[in-house]
Amino acid sequence: MNYNVAIIGAGPGGYVAAIRMAQLGLSVILIEENKLGGICLNKGCIPTKALYSATKLIERAEDAQAMGIEFTTPVIDLEKLSSWKEGVISTLVDGTAALLKANGVTVYQTRGRLEGTGRVALSTGKTVDAERIVLATGSSPIEIPGFTFADPHIWSSDDALALREIPRRLLLIGGGVIGLELATIYNRLGSKVTILEMMPEILPGIDLDRRTIATLKRALKAQGITVRVNTAAKSIEETSEGPVVQIGDGDAVAADRILLAVGRRPNSADIGLETVGIEPDRRGFVPVDKKLQTSAPGVYAIGDLVPGPMLAHKGSAEGLNLAASFVGQNYPLDYQTIPQAIFTDPEIASVGLSEARAREEGQDVIVGRFPYAALGKAQGMRETQGFFQVVADAKSKRLLGTQIVGAEASALIAEAALAVQNGLSLETIADSVHAHPTLPEGLKEAAEAALGRAIHAVNR
Ligand code: NAI
Repeated sequence: MNYNVAIIGAGPGGYVAAIRMAQLGLSVILIEENKLGGICLNKGCIPTKALYSATKLIERAEDAQAMGIEFTTPVIDLEKLSSWKEGVISTLVDGTAALLKANGVTVYQTRGRLEGTGRVALSTGKTVDAERIVLATGSSPIEIPGFTFADPHIWSSDDALALREIPRRLLLIGGGVIGLELATIYNRLGSKVTILEMMPEILPGIDLDRRTIATLKRALKAQGITVRVNTAAKSIEETSEGPVVQIGDGDAVAADRILLAVGRRPNSADIGLETVGIEPDRRGFVPVDKKLQTSAPGVYAIGDLVPGPMLAHKGSAEGLNLAASFVGQNYPLDYQTIPQAIFTDPEIASVGLSEARAREEGQDVIVGRFPYAALGKAQGMRETQGFFQVVADAKSKRLLGTQIVGAEASALIAEAALAVQNGLSLETIADSVHAHPTLPEGLKEAAEAALGRAIHAVNR
C-alpha cells in the first residue's frame, strides 16, 4: 500500500491533519489502534466537559434557592450519567469517522510502528509505504515512586471518568489541570476532596497571575475543597480504614480513593523511532524543528508527542500547519498565542502573556481589569465571581495577553485570542460595539479600564 502520507494516531492532532491533508489532495492513511478521537475525545477533554456541565446542574439546583426557586436535593444515577457521557463520546467518534470517510482518508484500526524510512508496519502483519510519515501518538499518565495504577485504591483520570463510584473521601495527588478539573467534578458529586500539590502554588506549570490563582483558591475553599500546597505525596500505606498517604513530618492524609494526576508522558516508546534513528529527549518527547520535522527525513511529529503545552488545539494547529507545509502553503503557528481553558469553578482561561511574565520580560505594560460583579448579565446569572484582565504594550496599546477567571471564561477567551493572535490593540476591542447585556462586555470594559476610560468602573 502506497500513500503520500501515513499518520499514526487519530487524536485531535492526527485526525485533523488527515482531513486537511486529504482536502489538499494528498492520499492519506490514518492508523489508530484504539477509538478515533484519541484521549481528548474518549478519555479527556470531552468526557470531562460533559461531566462538568452535568454536575454544574447540582450546584445550580442548590443555588437556585437564593433566586426563589427550590428544587429537592438532586439524586445522582451514576450509571445513567455515565451512559449519557458515553453517548456524547460515541456521537463524536461516529462524526469523526464520517468526516474522515467523506474526505477520502483511509482509516486502519490497528497498531502501527515505524519500520525504517517511509514504512509503517501494522500489527496485522501488513506494511504501509508513504512519502511522509506523521507521528501523532499522544501521551499517557505517569506514575510516581510508591504509587501505581495497579493499586486498586489508586485511580488514573481514566478510572475517575469511568464513574464507577463516588468515593466519600477523594485525595487528588497533583494540583495541575487534570487534578483541579476532576476535583471540581467529584466535589459536586459529593466527595470530600483534598488536593495535594508539591509546588508552592497550584497550576504551577501555567503562566497565570497571582490574582487569578487567588480567586480560584478562594472559590475552591468556599466549595469545601481542601488544597494543600508545598505538600508532596511520599508513600502510601494500606490500613484497615483504607489507604493513608504520607506527606512527611509524620503527617498523613486518609482517603477512600486516590487520584494520581501528576503529569503525562509522550507515547514515544515502542513506535519504532530507533528504526529511523530518532532519539527522544530525556522526558520522552520527540524533538522537531520549526517545520515539525524530526531528525529522520520524511518523518514528522505533532501534538503531545513533541515539546510544548499538552493541549488538543495545539496538536490540531500543528496538524493544520503541517498539512499546509506539505503542499507549499502557509498556516501560522505561534506557540505564544495559544489559548488555554481550565474547567474549574470558576473557569480560568488565558492567552498570551500574564502581567507578571510581561514585566519579567522587561516590557512596559498597561493593565486593565473589570469584575464580573459589575456586569448586569453576570448579576442576572448569579455568576459574579471573577474578573477580566488585559495586559497591553504601554506605547502601542497592542494586546499582549488576557486572563479571565469566571463563568464561561473558556468561551470568552476567544475574542482575546483573536486580538492577541492578530496584534490588535486595546482600542480595537474598546471601540467595537458589544451587545448588551452579555458577558463579553467584560473584555471591552477591561480594555476601556486599561485606557483609563471605563464606564462601569471607577477609573483610577
Ligand atoms: P500537570 O503537569 O499539569 O500537573 C501535575 C501536578 O502534579 C504538578 O503541579 C506537580 O507539581 C504535581 N505533583 C507531581 N508530583 C507530586 C507529588 N508527589 N505530590 C504532590 N504533587 C505532585 O499534569 P496533569 O494535571 O496530569 O495534566 C497533564 C497535561 O494535560 C498537562 O499538560 C495539562 O495542561 C493537560 N491538560 C489540559 C487540560 C485543559 O487545558 N483544560 C485538561 C487536562 C489536561
